[in-house]
Amino acid sequence: MKNTMRLDKMLGNLGYGTRSGIKALVRQGGVTVNGERAKDPGMQVDPGRDIVVLDGETVRYRDTVYVLLHKPAGVVSATEDSRDRTVLDLLDPELAVFSPFPVGRLDKDTEGLLLLTNDGKLSHDLLSPRKHVPKTYRAIVTGEVGETEAEAFRRGVELDDGYVTMPAQLRVLAVSAPEEAPSHPEMAEPVARMARGRLRDAESNAVSWIELTIHEGKFHQVKRMFESVGQQVLYLRRVSMGPLELDPSLAPGESRELTESEIDSLRQYRKEEPN
Ligand code: URA
Repeated sequence: MKNTMRLDKMLGNLGYGTRSGIKALVRQGGVTVNGERAKDPGMQVDPGRDIVVLDGETVRYRDTVYVLLHKPAGVVSATEDSRDRTVLDLLDPELAVFSPFPVGRLDKDTEGLLLLTNDGKLSHDLLSPRKHVPKTYRAIVTGEVGETEAEAFRRGVELDDGYVTMPAQLRVLAVSAPEEAPSHPEMAEPVARMARGRLRDAESNAVSWIELTIHEGKFHQVKRMFESVGQQVLYLRRVSMGPLELDPSLAPGESRELTESEIDSLRQYRKEEPN
């Protein structure tokens, strides 16, 4: 992973003016890098290591980033992979330069909210099994899901490895015949994006559009919970994690930095959780 970026870009990101203003400043000799006068505004600097001084003032580059990504299907929640594209490949280089990593994982075929940060402490706290950070998913699943499944999930279901899940909240948002799902207002978009083939192969006489909130994060948890009640997840999207919600203005593959209040809400949340 590349750890360097253009000097003018680094200063621009920090709000030291427009790219052209910064270029002019550098050319006038107003910037030094590690004690040497910078001549080329496009020179590569490592924001974590190089000491950049502008008009006599050392530039403090922030060292943590918090990124909200709308993960698309088809990319893996990892920082490197020999076969597949990773979520890091989707970030702007000026964010990727901080080497953020995903807070938890979504399966390759799962879409939705993924937080990336290089704040190891926060990541650790959010993932700690003791914190029970709620994660809400929307899914298309086979069958007519209803009160029986909701009650089973409330009580906890036994997964294929014998683990019994913590109470989870299931809401059924819509039920339709599989052939009607593509034109259903809620299901149309996910079906168009990825579930059509699965819908054809599912051999089910109904499909349900559901919302499930879980308070833990076992491997393939949502899929395995539905398997435990005899249903199959055809499409899965995470819509929230703790206080963070998937930003509807982000298309799959797009990301943005968290706002100050979102970062605060995570810290706040952390303090509120029992230890
Ligand atoms: N549960 C799953 O089964 N898959 C995910 O990607 C997330 C939760």
